[in-house]
Amino acid sequence: MSEKAREVKEMFGAIARRYDFLNHFLSGNIDRRWRAACVREVSKRAAISGPVILDVGCGTGDLSLAFSALGPVVGVDFCHPMLRIGLDKIARSSRPNRISVLEGDALALPFPDGSFDVVVSAFVLRNLADARKGLVEMRRVMRVGGILGVLDFSMPRTPVIGPLYRFYFAKILPRLGALISGVEGPYKYLPESVQTFPGPEALKAVIAEAGFESVEHRLLSGGIAVLLLARA
Ligand SMILES: C[S@@+](CC[C@H](N)C(=O)[O-])C[C@H]1O[C@@H](n2cnc3c(N)ncnc32)[C@H](O)[C@@H]1O
Repeated sequence: MSEKAREVKEMFGAIARRYDFLNHFLSGNIDRRWRAACVREVSKRAAISGPVILDVGCGTGDLSLAFSALGPVVGVDFCHPMLRIGLDKIARSSRPNRISVLEGDALALPFPDGSFDVVVSAFVLRNLADARKGLVEMRRVMRVGGILGVLDFSMPRTPVIGPLYRFYFAKILPRLGALISGVEGPYKYLPESVQTFPGPEALKAVIAEAGFESVEHRLLSGGIAVLLLARA
C-alpha cells in the first residue's frame, strides 16, 4: 500500500464516528441532494431494471443506501471503521438485504471482470493514490454497456458564488471540521485535495482514457460538486 493510501485510510479511520454528521452539517445537507442526483442520472441511463451495482469507497454507506432503491448494491472500502458504521446504518435501513459490504482496495477490486451493470463512487477519486488506475479498475469490473457515475467536489467559477465558496472552503470549513471532529488533518486536507484535483474537463479525459465512452458531466449546486457519467 502506498504512503498516500495509508494516510487516507488512517485519516478516515480517525473521523469515521463523526463523518456523517460533518458531511451533512458542513454541506448544509446538500450532499444528500447530490447523491440523489447521481441515482437519478444513472437510472435514466441504465439499460436494465434491477442492475447489479458496485459502490467504490462506500465509506459509511450513504451512496449504497441511495442506490439500493435501484438494485442490489455491493459497497467496497478499505477503511474498517467507516464500514462498521455503514453496516449499522444498513442494518437499520428499510433495505438491509439489498446491500452487502466488503473490505477491499479500489486500486485492486476483489471482483472478476464484467461483474457489475453500474459502478458508482462518491468523493473517492480525489483520495486515490492513482485516480487513473482506480478508473481502469472500475471499467474492468463493469459489463459492456454499463453505467459509471462519479461524484466529487469541484470549484465553482461563477463571479459571486466562486470567491465566497472558496473562502468558506479554504478558511472556515477546515476550522469547523477540526473543532467538531477533534482532528485537524482531514479538514485541512479536504480543500487542498479539491484544489489540486483536475477540473471536470480534465477528469473526463482521464475517464475516456480508462476505457469509457460517452463521457459527460453535470455541475451541481453552481459547480460546488460535479457528477461525471460514462458508459463502459
Ligand atoms: C470521502 S469518503 C466518501 C464515502 C462515501 N462514498 C460517501 O459518499 O460518503 C472517501 C472514502 O473512500 C475510501 N477510500 C479511499 N481510498 C480508497 C481505496 N484505495 N480503496 C478503498 N477505499 C478507499 C475511504 O476509506 C473513505 O471511506
